[in-house]
Amino acid sequence: MEATRPATRGDALQCAELCRNALDEVAALRHGTLSLRHEVGLAAKALLKPGGLERLIADRRRLVLMGTIDGVPVGVGLGRIDGEGQRTIGVVDGLYVAQGARGVGVGAALLGGLVDFFEHGGCQGVDVAVLPGDRSTKQFFEAGGFSARLIVMYRPLGGRASSANCPASRGTAQGSAP
Ligand SMILES: CC(C)(COP(=O)(O)OP(=O)(O)OC[C@H]1O[C@@H](n2cnc3c(N)ncnc32)[C@H](O)[C@@H]1OP(=O)(O)O)[C@@H](O)C(=O)NCCC(=O)NCCS
Repeated sequence: MEATRPATRGDALQCAELCRNALDEVAALRHGTLSLRHEVGLAAKALLKPGGLERLIADRRRLVLMGTIDGVPVGVGLGRIDGEGQRTIGVVDGLYVAQGARGVGVGAALLGGLVDFFEHGGCQGVDVAVLPGDRSTKQFFEAGGFSARLIVMYRPLGGRASSANCPASRGTAQGSAP
């Protein structure tokens, strides 16, 4: 039977292993390594450090939930309340279910627990970052009522060929700059 419960200090090792697997899965996705450096999985990385779980648990604006099947931890959910007043939103910093435990409701239970926490914390909505190539995670969140609100465009740099394709560079090369 799937369930969730708040993480305790005793979950540190299991939590770190789940986070390590989550980070590995993200790293294998398109733009995964870059996103891990800037926007994605930062709280999960904190859980890999000694005392990381205790620090997150001690923060009243955060929630670390363990997802279990028959009492065995198989997933983790990391939530954070961000902002004040009207601008308060909940941020899902990480949601991960071990591959062998997917498809039986653990992810939905973790997300439900985080959403309850955000609602009690006065949040106006919930944000979660998903990589464009991660269709199944995107579909999971869409099934939970989420839709895209921001798309981050990216262009790699390094080399004349790439800048020659930039409209701004083209204008300058033709002498049309103001
Ligand atoms: C996304 C994820 C959390 C889903 O967990 P899960 O336990 O398999 O999901 P559930 O079994 O609770 O599914 C919940 C609902 O979403 C739906 N769903 C799940 N995956 C889906 C998919 N790929 N496409 C469409 N719907 C999907 C299920 O059908 C279910 O709907 P239902 O209740 O109507 O049947 C899990 O696949 C995962 O951990 N993926 C990796 C995510 C990741 O990389 N996280 C790292 C961030 S730091």
